[in-house]
Amino acid sequence: MIREQMRAAEKVKALEWRDNALYLLDQRLLPQQEFWQRYETAADVAQAIREMRVRGAPAIGVAAAFAMVLAAQQHVANHVSDLSAALEADFSLLAESRPTAVNLFWALQAMRDCLATALQTEQPLKALEAQALSIFNDDRNANLRTAELGLQLIRETGSAPQHVMTHCNAGALATAGFGTALGVIRAAYLDGLVRCVHVNETRPWLQGARLTAWELAGEGIPCALNVDAAAGHLMQQGMISWIIVGADRITANGDVANKIGTYQLAVLARYHQIKCMVVAPSSTIDMQLASGAQIPIEERTGEEILFVGQQRVAAEVDALNPVFDVTPAALIDVIVTERGVVNQPDAQKMRALMQS
Ligand code: MRU
Repeated sequence: MIREQMRAAEKVKALEWRDNALYLLDQRLLPQQEFWQRYETAADVAQAIREMRVRGAPAIGVAAAFAMVLAAQQHVANHVSDLSAALEADFSLLAESRPTAVNLFWALQAMRDCLATALQTEQPLKALEAQALSIFNDDRNANLRTAELGLQLIRETGSAPQHVMTHCNAGALATAGFGTALGVIRAAYLDGLVRCVHVNETRPWLQGARLTAWELAGEGIPCALNVDAAAGHLMQQGMISWIIVGADRITANGDVANKIGTYQLAVLARYHQIKCMVVAPSSTIDMQLASGAQIPIEERTGEEILFVGQQRVAAEVDALNPVFDVTPAALIDVIVTERGVVNQPDAQKMRALMQS
């Protein structure tokens, strides 16, 4: 029942594959402008990822998978003699586009694995396209499953509508489907369990103010935007019962890299005895890294902080702009994936999840 309601509520899209091309909704322009751009080359998709026209860990992975199909199409049209060798430069270009979200590298590896078998077939392009579509569809289905599992956890904490807080955008715009953190929140709203979503604006890129608030408002889900620094105050007021966020990379011990500011939310949540839920597909789990200390943290230009649009707002100083942080597993109450739920994550539980 809830799954049918969720399918019906899948309205916002970040990307589409049609007519042998990738279409991206330009997230730099939202919410003022809904502009879809057609992409026909891997280089252009890599640039779109770098410039955050498409962003959010799962959406980056899906876009990179389709970019490899575009690259293969182009090489075949140019009659290259060694498709596999020609694609190496495209794999590298895409892998260099952003460093933190592991879904990018996971999707590129899936495309690389597929290439080996695709080259044995009559139609390697079809096989690569099928693989990219399957990455897309698997993410969409994972969103629905994590939404169901996350909803169940919220149901267990009571039947009264609750105030929840989210950070950044872990919604439809960040995925192939319903969203991760926002997928759980959408499901909980459909189930009558959400009174208000408190949206941190998410300085400096304002994913909360521009993207999450836009998604929620579009669906009539009650929400209120607050500056990031208000989060502790709102928790202290006893207003918030759940922190629900996505993830860019979860390591083998359950540490979570997510948008800058997530760590301080988790510290505050623990102090105020508020539960912290991380929602992510298993493609976000990196069992190769033992702990969050090994996650490469992206630093972006200080201009994102010093300027608002074209207008400089800061004094003539340098700015430091790490755009992700790592929340230790010990501060996370539960990680929700499509494979299942991990309460109080640690290395042993993460291993059991990934072996299931
Ligand atoms: O820099 P961004 O906007 O790509 O960062 C996105 C996030 O941090 C999201 O919370 C994360 O990717 C999860 S999206 C389902």
